[in-house]
Amino acid sequence: MTTQHQYDVLVIGSGAAGLSLALHLADQAKVAVLSKGQLHEGSTWFAQGGIAAVLDDQDSIDAHVTDTLAAGGGLCHPDAVRFTVERSKAAIDWLIHQGVDFTKDPSADNYHLTQEGGHSHRRIIHSADATGRAVLSSLIERVREHGNITLLEKFIALDLISQPDPSSRKLRCTGAYVYNHGDDHVHAFHAKAVVLATGGASKVYLYTSNPDGASGDGIAMAWRAGCRVGNMEFNQFHPTCLFHPKAKSFLITEALRGEGAHLKLPNGQRFMHLFDQREELAPRDIVARAIDHEMKRLGADCLYLDISHKPAAFISEHFPTVKARCLEFGIDITKEPIPVVPAAHYTCGGIVVDANGQTDLMNLYAIGETSFTGLHGANRMASNSLLECIVYAQSAAMDIEAKLTTIPFGNPAPAWDESRVTDSDEDVVISHNWDELRRFMWDYVGIVRTQKRLERATHRIKLLKREIADYYSNYKVRGDLIELRNLAMVAELIIRSAMERKESRGLHFSLDHPETAHIARDTILVPTNFAAQDIFVSGDQ
Ligand code: FAD
Ligand code: SIN
Repeated sequence: MTTQHQYDVLVIGSGAAGLSLALHLADQAKVAVLSKGQLHEGSTWFAQGGIAAVLDDQDSIDAHVTDTLAAGGGLCHPDAVRFTVERSKAAIDWLIHQGVDFTKDPSADNYHLTQEGGHSHRRIIHSADATGRAVLSSLIERVREHGNITLLEKFIALDLISQPDPSSRKLRCTGAYVYNHGDDHVHAFHAKAVVLATGGASKVYLYTSNPDGASGDGIAMAWRAGCRVGNMEFNQFHPTCLFHPKAKSFLITEALRGEGAHLKLPNGQRFMHLFDQREELAPRDIVARAIDHEMKRLGADCLYLDISHKPAAFISEHFPTVKARCLEFGIDITKEPIPVVPAAHYTCGGIVVDANGQTDLMNLYAIGETSFTGLHGANRMASNSLLECIVYAQSAAMDIEAKLTTIPFGNPAPAWDESRVTDSDEDVVISHNWDELRRFMWDYVGIVRTQKRLERATHRIKLLKREIADYYSNYKVRGDLIELRNLAMVAELIIRSAMERKESRGLHFSLDHPETAHIARDTILVPTNFAAQDIFVSGDQ
């Protein structure tokens, strides 16, 4: 017997995007927010540098737009960029209203703005070097206070439920099947609108700055439900993650470079001037590729980021989190350089949406890192991501609110097939496949790509997907199997997209196609069960 739940709006994900949307809607609607772990376990909590916004009188919307377009390698959608940037000040005001404690500038009666790669102005508002924690803890406090929001932790969405909508002759989303870790059963959630706010997919790579849950679940669910995905080949590698055998996924914020840190070779020489006149403040794709190039040239395990020439008091005030974490590994950043390597950091592509976060499937929305709005193009500019989460959470909420009274609930969904009751007795298959997938994605679909490596990856992913599908249909579902199935789906979408792009642009660099095409085109993959098509054959209603 499948347990049934009903809410006006089902939000899948409790990061900056999901919680902001829930807060915007909760006065008008009953909202459920699902989180597959604890509320704070997504990427938002770990964000360090800050949020890009036009807040300074010397700065302008045009300058922020121009910088974003330049960093995006000709592939940003100018309307999406302007839409986002024009709303940046209001987004920050809203966060301040929710209680977020941004760092003040002691020398001025205002907030301190830091600098990051690609930005022509200081425009990153931050909370020291733990901005994500400050944002999310305020949002969590606010959602906990709201009587209309139900928070469900350790509920993992498996797949979306959709049903025919006779009036539009299309499919519409009416809910989701969700695995509840607590009772080890699959529940059915019904809602008038469903919002995917499930974050990115960087866990598809062996080395990543992201937390464990970044397995692209929303992208995989939307694709299976018939939604298009765009620009999945653009995986951003952050240039500087801490290199230490025990320091899993720890980022060294780009704001260090914004405040004057130098990248150095093992012999202490700087090298970024050889790659870009903006040196350490070139956009991320350029810096990550330069580091990768130098590491391969020298056969080095890591390079170094050095801020020790700045006063110790300045470093402690601006970078307390980085300083403390590095000290745990015996590295005193006020006195010595930090060993760093690039790691997978951000999924620039995702589920195709419009300015309201509406996907191809009626009443299904996608916001935050899981979505493809056109803002980031071929390379996201630093600190534009949290901004996108807040801006699109609001536009999606407004769109849902306007439609809510006219959307009926769907019919009862078919019960979840509980016949697969056998627990796997071969857990090693799941952990082996996780490891194999992430390793070949790193080796074959990483910072520098070739046609041959992509062909190898295509071959590997086909075999793995078959094995995982077999496993999925025979054994009882559980968290790591759900994620593995999604990771494999997303890996295939990344490889397919990379194979389609016969040029180098932004984060996609191919040794076989090093030139950039004159015309910039998105890579849009369309599923065979495309949800926006008419589902009724003539006479069949
Ligand atoms: P997330 O915050 O990742 O949240 C995803 C949510 O979805 C989680 O609650 C998760 O549990 C839930 N979820 C996922 N799948 C399921 C499922 N199947 N069922 C139920 N729940 C599910 N960006 C900036 O703009 N500025 C920065 O300074 C910055 N620093 C960063 C530092 C680090 C270390 C990292 C990793 C990222 C950083 N980014 C930064 C990027 C930014 O943090 C993320 O893009 C952004 O936080 C994504 O927010 P989100 O709400 O879309 O997803
Ligand atoms: C950082 O602090 O370097 C991360 C910023 C971002 O990913 O936008």
